[in-house]
Amino acid sequence: MILVTGANGQLGTELKNLQTQFSSLPLVLTDVAELDITSPEVVQAFFAQQPFSACINCAAYTAVDKAENDAETASRVNALAPEVLAEACLQKGAKFIHFSSDYVYHNGLDRPLREDDPCEAKSVYAKTKLDGDLRVMAANPNALVFRTSWVYSAYGNNFVKTMLKLGRERGHLRIVYDQIGAPTYAKDLALLALQVLSDEKLSAQKGVYNYSNLGVTSWYDFALAIFEYGKVACTAEPILSVEYPTPAARPPYSVLDKSKFAADFGLHTRHWRVALQECLQELGELS
Ligand SMILES: NC(=O)c1ccc[n+]([C@@H]2O[C@H](COP(=O)([O-])OP(=O)(O)OC[C@H]3O[C@@H](n4cnc5c(N)ncnc54)[C@H](OP(=O)(O)O)[C@@H]3O)[C@@H](O)[C@H]2O)c1
Repeated sequence: MILVTGANGQLGTELKNLQTQFSSLPLVLTDVAELDITSPEVVQAFFAQQPFSACINCAAYTAVDKAENDAETASRVNALAPEVLAEACLQKGAKFIHFSSDYVYHNGLDRPLREDDPCEAKSVYAKTKLDGDLRVMAANPNALVFRTSWVYSAYGNNFVKTMLKLGRERGHLRIVYDQIGAPTYAKDLALLALQVLSDEKLSAQKGVYNYSNLGVTSWYDFALAIFEYGKVACTAEPILSVEYPTPAARPPYSVLDKSKFAADFGLHTRHWRVALQECLQELGELS
């Protein structure tokens, strides 16, 4: 049995959808109502009740700008709770899979970022995610942490859904073109977690790995692709980040170097454009 936390979010919902394809990995799906990961007592009780072979932690505080004024909650969800889950997994001999963010590499480098590059967290969200990575790996050296970027899906709130909505409503949008990264379809991230857990050799891997879809883009070019594939009649104007100030700082360059992942996992990763088209199809928005 595999414990999934934060199962109502983007990643958790994609795991739920993949259940039938991975029937040998029964999932126990929980979100805050069933398992508030910030309560160590509740976590301990959950682990005492059921013999989990793994835990996929999809729970997170992902409201990046809101976190600037809510550091305590963000820290409890993104750093302290993952440490407790990681410890519980170690005690029970269960694999722990956790997810982190490209924002931890806000280090001024402008070439694909490697796991051993210096980490620099400039926003509250980034600081809590980095703290979480460090706590998880210190508590449970067998854990796997996937740092990912620009996550979207057919569920919840994300850039793809916002662009479809605002593009249709407004017909013209100003979009930042000086932040460079790579989008990640949450379905691909969910598939990765289940592929890892269904393979003995892959689930023996441990440590921090970068993972996103392949390719590189800016938010502006990502939006243009959404408009093109989604047949949204919207024009876009490229603007600088300084023209669109946000409470939390975003890294100007956060393309993740995936060579460590490719070498150690050997799993197929698809290009962000291919994944985007599948997501739009799922939303009934592919032209
Ligand atoms: N979204 C991105 O662009 C992005 C980019 C890079 C990395 N990541 C990382 O990827 C992972 C998955 O992100 P996602 O986009 O799937 O996140 P998401 O959609 O925000 O889902 C997170 C889920 O966790 C739940 N949650 C919050 N506090 C909880 C608690 N105390 N106990 C249990 N559940 C709780 C949330 O509930 P509520 O909605 O009710 O709060 C939500 O259902 C996260 O680790 C995130 O940091 C995301």
